Amino acid sequence: MSVTDSELSILEAQDAAVASAIEEERRRQLGTLEMIASENFVSRAVQEAAGSVLTNKYAEGYPGKRYYNGCEPSDKVENLAIERVKQLFGSECANVQSHSGSTANQAVFFAAMKPGDTVLSLSLANGGHLSHGHRVNMAGQFFKIVNYGVSADNEQINFDEVASLAREHKPRMIITGGSAYPRLIDFAKFRTIADEVDAVFLVDMAHFAGLVAGKAIPSPVPHAHIVSSTTHKTLRGPRAGIILSNAEWGPKIDKAVFPGLQGGPLMHIVAAKAVAFGEALKPSFANYAKQVIRNAQTLGEALVSKGLRLVAGGTDTHLILVDLRNYNVTGKDAANALEHAGITVNKNAIPFDPQKEWVTSGIRIGSPALTSRGMKETEMRTIAGWIAEVVKDPTDESIQKRVRAQVGELTANYPLRADE
Ligand SMILES: Cc1ncc(COP(=O)(O)O)c(C=O)c1O
Repeated sequence: MSVTDSELSILEAQDAAVASAIEEERRRQLGTLEMIASENFVSRAVQEAAGSVLTNKYAEGYPGKRYYNGCEPSDKVENLAIERVKQLFGSECANVQSHSGSTANQAVFFAAMKPGDTVLSLSLANGGHLSHGHRVNMAGQFFKIVNYGVSADNEQINFDEVASLAREHKPRMIITGGSAYPRLIDFAKFRTIADEVDAVFLVDMAHFAGLVAGKAIPSPVPHAHIVSSTTHKTLRGPRAGIILSNAEWGPKIDKAVFPGLQGGPLMHIVAAKAVAFGEALKPSFANYAKQVIRNAQTLGEALVSKGLRLVAGGTDTHLILVDLRNYNVTGKDAANALEHAGITVNKNAIPFDPQKEWVTSGIRIGSPALTSRGMKETEMRTIAGWIAEVVKDPTDESIQKRVRAQVGELTANYPLRADE
């Protein structure tokens, strides 16, 4: 599909204002380099399921036990999603109804804890996630949150700190996983600590679920009591969440999601999840997952060769966290300049960041979306060169303008999905 073909003929005729904003977004996605680590481009099949008539259906409950009539097709769809995701990750139980990654985590909190219980989680400033108990988040207000961080020397999880905080605070739950942690996580080590203090061990694999699905990195499923995830990042499904667990936790998780936290599931999104899980079960998805990592590593190495520093010394996953202090530039200025140049990333705090949260010393860059478009190492090296040029002087609009034109030429050769 070319940039001039709109997908929205009916909407255009009925509601030009909304249609034109969506069309603007489609062109933005096609004509720029989407490098936000948590974004991806779903297949047309996933998009079709997400836009299907299932949006009309109420199906409160679970397959075979619904509170509404007329749920037979919904039962089929949800059973397909459950069976496929269990096969994909090898879990005993799966709940596919969470509307998002945050509500999936809320459901786990609700299933496993009482208000006031203690949670030990990775701090947001060191790569964790808001929903793991930041003070502005619901979890941070209802539970006692203790944070571990990364070591100053290698910027990787400090297990001595995890163990000593666990022994001191005896948390009810220990959480790992995050939004800006580029290295592999030693799940077995976490489980040993959790067992020692009798804590529930939750892994939030929202960011790297697709890499686990593609067997490109080790799985947390054999180690954790509960695994939560989004489905829309590396996993390349619709915007939503899932919760995997063992047989002991499965029924408790189901009760916490519904009726504990939600009403009717978004059946069109459950259908889109089933389609995405089916895609992730195909051998081609393993190739995708490996290429995502190769692309992130290539991008990182190329940025290092331009004098930039990578947090934790590089990446084992789909994202890099770039420390911009060698260039004397802030994350905020760099991300804004890159947007003008047609490269979308986000500013991100680096560990022990001297800058405020809204300024930061870093940018987070991810490879999943561009890998879905079919880009490989050669394109990553080219893009790294553009990023370095733009970031070196974020006030120079002529560089941004030139790179914007080059980005336009590159993206014209790549549809949003490589198989189109
Ligand atoms: C680790 C992690 N958990 C949970 C979430 C929340 O997902 P959602 O935005 O779907 O609520 C995110 C989103 O960035 C995340 O990175």
